[in-house]
Amino acid sequence: DRPVLAAPRKTIPFGAAVRGDALMADAGYGAALAERCRLLVPEGALKWPVLRPNRETFDFGDADRIATFARRNGLGLRGHTLAWYGGMPAWAEAITSRVEAEWVLTGHIETVVSRYRGFIGSWDVVNEPMPDDPASPQDLRSFVWTKTLGAEYIPIAFKAAHAADPAARLVLNEYDIEYVGPRFAMRRAGILAIARSLLDRGIPIHAIGLQAHLFADREIDRDGLQGFLREIAAMKLDVLITELDVIDVGLPTDVAIRDEIIARKAADFLRIVDEVIPPSEVLTWGITDRYTWVPIYFTRPDGTANRPLPLDSDLRPKPLMNVI
Ligand code: XIL
Repeated sequence: DRPVLAAPRKTIPFGAAVRGDALMADAGYGAALAERCRLLVPEGALKWPVLRPNRETFDFGDADRIATFARRNGLGLRGHTLAWYGGMPAWAEAITSRVEAEWVLTGHIETVVSRYRGFIGSWDVVNEPMPDDPASPQDLRSFVWTKTLGAEYIPIAFKAAHAADPAARLVLNEYDIEYVGPRFAMRRAGILAIARSLLDRGIPIHAIGLQAHLFADREIDRDGLQGFLREIAAMKLDVLITELDVIDVGLPTDVAIRDEIIARKAADFLRIVDEVIPPSEVLTWGITDRYTWVPIYFTRPDGTANRPLPLDSDLRPKPLMNVI
């Protein structure tokens, strides 16, 4: 077993999101990933804006480089993501007809999923379907696929992914699931409703992905989260932790104290999940503070660098590494 998989979690494969450009430029980064991980997930390389600069083109350059790196190092690969509002290219966002939307969405999924058939073991088919503050569990985030296809975009996407790789594990992935408050309870109810409706219709779905971008200073709703996980278990679905990191905007400047709080936050979260249903995979959204999305969105008021990930910016393990 790899050193990162310290007891008691060593049976759960650990992985991290990876950037293809950094992999090319930074040998230490690649070595750290190969040493610490059993799985990888491209942070951006399989998203629409990278793969689909225009309607005619598929650009698999970055994704293929990452897949080659994973293969050479004996690592598994996850796929992220097929249907997501984030960063949709303007040409796709401009689609207005239902027929065209279904054609473009299913064509995309068929091409992308079948390219990595047998290698990518699980796909985030639908990512972040819930609005930030849903009015009801049926409320969905508005973007090109809901505007053209309504709620049907979700079953359409899952069916297309299954057709392209019948062995792939299909995941419904969402963030802001774990906290105290009505908006988070509504988001949990919405995700359960989507999963239930797919299952009722006999459409394959295998797992719920909890992104777990954990705000260090937000309270986790233990009962709410565990109730949600029990519903998932009752549906015989798996749970994956897909994008774990700890957002340290509200934490003290002192690095040692901050790293302890960060590790404890992740440990508390993982324990709450484990008590109900141990996740089949745990992935962090990056391996090192050198390459993280967090500062773009959650800059610290004291101006010091964020420390959301298991290795520091010099690739040294932090307390967070020990709890995953
Ligand atoms: C983020 C990437 O980390 C950034 O580099 C990019 O600019 C935007 O997307 N939830 C998700 C991920 O599902 O795809 C997001 O990734 C982070 C939040």
